[in-house]
Amino acid sequence: MARFTLPRDLYHGKGSLEALKTLIGSRAIVCVGGGSMKKYGFLDKAVEYLKEAGMEVRLIEGIEPDPSVDTVMKGAQIMSEFKPDWIVAMGGGSPIDAAKAMWIKYEHPETTFEDMCKVFGLPKLRTKAKFCAIPSTSGTATEVTAFSVITDNEKGIKYPLADFEITPDVAIVDPDLAQTMPKKLVAHTGMDAMTHAIEAYVSTASCDFTDPLALHAIEMIQNDLVDSYNGDADKRAKMHNAQCLAGMAFSNALLGIVHSMAHKTGAAFSDYGAHIIHGAANAMYLPKVIAFNAKDARASSRYAEIADRMKLGGKTEKEKVSLLIEYLRGMNTKLNIPQCIKNYSAEGYPAENGFVPENIFRERLHDIAVNAISDACTGSNPRQPSVEEMEKLLLCCYYDNEVDF
Ligand SMILES: NC(=O)c1ccc[n+]([C@@H]2O[C@H](COP(=O)([O-])OP(=O)(O)OC[C@H]3O[C@@H](n4cnc5c(N)ncnc54)[C@H](O)[C@@H]3O)[C@@H](O)[C@H]2O)c1
Ligand SMILES: [Zn+2]
Repeated sequence: MARFTLPRDLYHGKGSLEALKTLIGSRAIVCVGGGSMKKYGFLDKAVEYLKEAGMEVRLIEGIEPDPSVDTVMKGAQIMSEFKPDWIVAMGGGSPIDAAKAMWIKYEHPETTFEDMCKVFGLPKLRTKAKFCAIPSTSGTATEVTAFSVITDNEKGIKYPLADFEITPDVAIVDPDLAQTMPKKLVAHTGMDAMTHAIEAYVSTASCDFTDPLALHAIEMIQNDLVDSYNGDADKRAKMHNAQCLAGMAFSNALLGIVHSMAHKTGAAFSDYGAHIIHGAANAMYLPKVIAFNAKDARASSRYAEIADRMKLGGKTEKEKVSLLIEYLRGMNTKLNIPQCIKNYSAEGYPAENGFVPENIFRERLHDIAVNAISDACTGSNPRQPSVEEMEKLLLCCYYDNEVDF
C-alpha cells in the first residue's frame, strides 16, 4: 500500500494571503525569518487578517536560515506558553521548517530531536494546533511537503524530518510574496525545485499520482525560471506554482542522493566561511547524479522521458540523457551558479578559487560519504551507491570531473 497526502486546502493566486481571514480558532502564533516578511509589509497584513478572523496573535521572529535544533526547542517553549490553536509559518523554507519541528515538540513535549528524526515515525499531531504555511521563496515547497530540514550545529549535519503528520493543513501560495526575492535567491530556490521534480520522477517510490506533477513542474521550470531570474514578474508568479507542484510530487515520491549529498555537505564547511546553499548544492550535484543513476535501466529511460518532455532532441536514450545533463549545466550558467564545489565561492557565486580548500574536502570526504548514504533521501534513489562510489561521486562534484562509473 502507498499513501498520497497533500494539505486539505491550498489557496493560490495574487492576494490569496487574505485566506487567513477564513481560519477558525482563537490563538495564532506566526513564525517568520530574518525580516523580509516584515520589511515588505506581508507580516503586518497577515496579523491583520488573523485578527479579523477573531484571533489573538503572537509572533516568533528571527528564525535563522538553516534553522537549528536550539531554535526549534526555544520556539516550542514559546508555543507551550501561548497555547496557539493555529501555527502560521511565513517565509522561506527555513522558518516554515523550523515551525513544523516546533509544532511536534509543542504537541509532544517529551519528544527529543532524535525521536523527530525517525523517518515516518512521528506521533499524531493536531491535538493542540493546526498548521498553515505561506511560502515566500519558490523552491522548497515545504508548504505542501511532509518534510522539515533542521541543522544540528554541533555535528554540522542537516537532518530531514519526514512524516505525513507534518504536511500542513493549509497552504497559501500567493505569488506577491515571491516578487521581492533577490535574484540569487530566485536562482538557488528555482534549481532546488528543478531537482525536486527530477528526483521525484526517477525515485523508486514514484507512481501514477506523482509522475504528472513532476513532469509538469519540470516543463514549467524550464520555461519560467531563467526569465523569472531576469526580472519577468509573470514568470516569477508561474515559478511559485511550479515549485509547489514539484513539492506535491516529491513529498509523495520522495527524493534521491542529490539531496542526500546537499544535506551532508551543506553545513560541513561552515568553518571555512559559508554554508553551501541548499539550492546551489543541488544545482551542482544534479548533473553528476544523473550520469551516475543513468547506469540503472529504469532511471535512464525516465531521464530520457524528461528530456523528451523538455523537447531537447536526441535519438538514443544515451543521447537524451547527455542532452539533459548539458541543458541543466546551461541553466546553472545562465543563473550564475558554479558547476562544482571547487569554484563555489562566498554567497554561492562562481569563482576561480572557491571557499572549500581541496585538502579539507579530501580530509572530510569519507565521513561526508558515510553520512550521505545514511541520509533519509538515499533509500528512494534509483541506484544505491557504495561508500566508495559516493566518495568518487563527491570528488566529481568537487572537481567537475565526468562521472563514468
Ligand atoms: N521541507 C522541505 O521539504 C525542504 C525541501 C528543500 C529544502 N528545505 C530546506 O529549506 C531551507 C532553505 O529554504 P529557502 O531556500 O526557502 O531559503 P530560506 O528560508 O533559508 O531563506 C533564505 C533568505 O532569503 C530571505 N527571503 C525569503 N523570502 C524572501 C523574499 N520573498 N524576499 C526577500 N528575501 C526573502 C530570508 O530572509 C533569508 O535570508 C534549507 O534549510 C533547506 O534544507 C526544505
Ligand atoms: Zn530541496
